[in-house]
Amino acid sequence: MNTSWYQDALTSSLETSKWEHIPIVIFEQPRLAATRVAQEIADLVRHREADGLKVVLGLATGSTPIFVYQELARIHREGLSFRNVITFNLDEYFPISADHAQSYHRFMREHLFDHLDIPENQIHVPDGEIPRGDMAATCERYEKQIAEAGGIDLQILGIGRTGHIGFNEPGSSRRSGTRLIHLDRLTRLDAIKDFQSEELVPRTAVTMGVKTILQARRIVIMAFGEHKAPIVARAVEGEVNAEVTATYLQDHEDCLMVLDRAAASQLTRIQTPWLVGPLHESGLSWNDSMLRRAVNWLAQKTNKAVLKLTDEDYNSHSLQELLSQHGNAYEINLRFFRQLQNTITGWPGGKPPSDDKTPVVQPRCLRGPSIAVYPKRILIFSPHPGDDVLSMGGTLLRLAEHKHDVHIAYQVSGSDSVKDEVLQRYLDFHEQVGGVPLPKDRSDARQLRTLKATICRAEARAAARVCRVNPDYLHFLDLPFYEKVGEQYRQVSPEDITMTARLLDKIMPHQIYAAGDLADPHGTHRICLEILTQALKQCSGQRWFAECEAWLYRGAWSEWPIHEVDMAVPLSPSEVATKGRAVFQHESWKHRVTMFSKDAGEPGKPSADAAYATSRQFDALGMPDYEAIETFHRWALR
Ligand code: F6R
Repeated sequence: MNTSWYQDALTSSLETSKWEHIPIVIFEQPRLAATRVAQEIADLVRHREADGLKVVLGLATGSTPIFVYQELARIHREGLSFRNVITFNLDEYFPISADHAQSYHRFMREHLFDHLDIPENQIHVPDGEIPRGDMAATCERYEKQIAEAGGIDLQILGIGRTGHIGFNEPGSSRRSGTRLIHLDRLTRLDAIKDFQSEELVPRTAVTMGVKTILQARRIVIMAFGEHKAPIVARAVEGEVNAEVTATYLQDHEDCLMVLDRAAASQLTRIQTPWLVGPLHESGLSWNDSMLRRAVNWLAQKTNKAVLKLTDEDYNSHSLQELLSQHGNAYEINLRFFRQLQNTITGWPGGKPPSDDKTPVVQPRCLRGPSIAVYPKRILIFSPHPGDDVLSMGGTLLRLAEHKHDVHIAYQVSGSDSVKDEVLQRYLDFHEQVGGVPLPKDRSDARQLRTLKATICRAEARAAARVCRVNPDYLHFLDLPFYEKVGEQYRQVSPEDITMTARLLDKIMPHQIYAAGDLADPHGTHRICLEILTQALKQCSGQRWFAECEAWLYRGAWSEWPIHEVDMAVPLSPSEVATKGRAVFQHESWKHRVTMFSKDAGEPGKPSADAAYATSRQFDALGMPDYEAIETFHRWALR
C-alpha cells in the first residue's frame, strides 16, 4: 500500500538511515498528519470492500489518535461504510468497568464506534472487568480471536513517554503476548489529566503484547507534541532494547512513524543536522538561527563559554563547514555573543520618551512602526487561566509597572484542571457562609464545569491583582471548542475565531503575547494558537494590525531553545518572588505545578523552573548571570 506520502517518508529516511531506524514522515500540524493516517485507513477499507474482503484494524486510545477518529467519522458521513472492519484495541485499564468515564471501552465508543457502522460483534476491546483469576485464559482468547480474524492488517499506535507501545512498559519482552501489566509511574502521572488524581489512576492494565503488535502486517505509530520529542528520538535512533519498547518497531518490516514538527524536534537530522551531512544536502543553510543552534550545542558539548570556543572545537565537532564560511572561530563566537546580547532587555514594551527630548535608544530586539508609542496597549493571550503568570509572570509585572495598558485574554475556561475535591471545598465554604444554596445534584456535568470555571476566574483575578493588572482588563473568552465532548472533542468552530478577532479589534493592541509551546500534552495550547492565527488573519486589514508586534512565550513546559530566543527579559530576585505569589493564586491547579523547586520536579508537570534554567544557560554561555530569564520568540505577523 504505497501511497505517495509513504514514499516520501521512505526517501527521507534513507538519507538519514545511519541515524534513523524507522521510516518517518513529519507534518507541520497534527491534524494534517491525522488526515493522512485516516486516508490510509479509509483506502484500505475501500479496497478490501471492493474485493469483498474484511479488514482487521488494531486501534489505540489516548489523545494522539483522536483527530484520526474524527476524520474517519467524517469520511463515514460522506458515505464510506466500515461494515467490513474488524477491530482489536490495544489495551484497557484494569480493573475498570466498561462504562467508567475513563475506560477505553467508553473512549472508543465516544470517539469512534458510535460514529461508524462497524457491526458490534466485530469490535474487540480487552475486558477490564474480568475476575483476576480468569485473566490468563481471557488474554489467551484475545490472541486467538486476532489469529482467527486473520491477524491485524494495520495497527495504529501512540507512544507513551516511557516509550511504551500499547501498555508494554519498560522491561517488556519482545516475545510478550496479551497480559496484565503494572503501569509505570510516569504513565500514571500522565493519566492524572483524565483521572483527576494519582490515587484514582489504576495501577494495572491489560495490554496486547509486543509480539502481538509486531505480528501486525503494517504498523503506523503517531506522536504529536514536544513532550514526545525525547522518547521519539530514542525510539527511532536508540538501540533496540526492552527499556524503550517502541524500539522493537525498528525490526518491523512495514512500520511508519508519523510525527508533527514538535515531536520530531529532537531527531538528529533536526536538532544537529550538521552531524548528518553537509547542510545544503538537506535543503538547509547556515543562517543566523542555525549558527546559534550550532554554537550553543558546541558550547554545551565542550562545557565552555562561547567566547572561549576555538577553531579546533569547531573542527572536531563536525562544524568545519560553518568555520570555513566565517573564517575563524572568534568571528562566529562574536556573532553569536552579540546576537544573544541584543535579545536581553528589561523594557519589553519599549522605553518611555525622555523628559529632556534627547533621543531614546530603544531595545534592539524590539521592532515595528509602533516602537516609540508609549504607553502601549498590550494584549496577553493565556490559554488557561494561569499560563500567563506561570510562563511570563515577571514580564507581565514589568509591563504593568511600566504603566502600559496590559490586557489579559483567558482563552479557555480552565475547568478541566479543577479537581472535584477543590470544587467541593468551595461549595462547602459557600454553604457555611450562608450564600445562595447551591445545587446538590453533582451529576449535571455542564453545571459543574461552570462552577469550576468560576473558580478559575477568581484565581486569575487574584493573580492579576498581585501583578498589578487592572481587573477591568481581564477578558474571559471561554472559547467553545474547549467545552466540546465526544466526536466534536476539541473541534474548532468559526465562533472560536470570531470571538478572538472581536477582542483583538476592540483592544487594537500594539503588542501581543501568546503561548507558543507545542509541548502541552493536552493540545489545548496548540489549538488556542491555531485559533489566534486565524483570528489575526481576519484582522489583517485593520490599521492597528499594521503596527502590531507579536511575541510567543513558552515557559510552563519548557523554555525556548537558545537559538529561538528573540527577546530575553531578566528578572530580579524580588520579581521572581512576586511571580511566585501570582502563580500560587491559582490554587486549584497548584497540585499540577512544580514551582521554583530548583530540581526537575515531577516529570510531566508544568514548571516555573524554566526561567531559572534559562538564566543558568545564559550564564554558562558567558552572558550576565541573572536570577531568572523569561524568553520570547518573535511571531512574524506580516
Ligand atoms: C493507548 C495506548 C498507549 C498510548 C500512549 C500515548 O491505547 O496503548 O500506548 O498510545 O500512552 O498516549 P497519548 O496519545 O494520550 O499521548
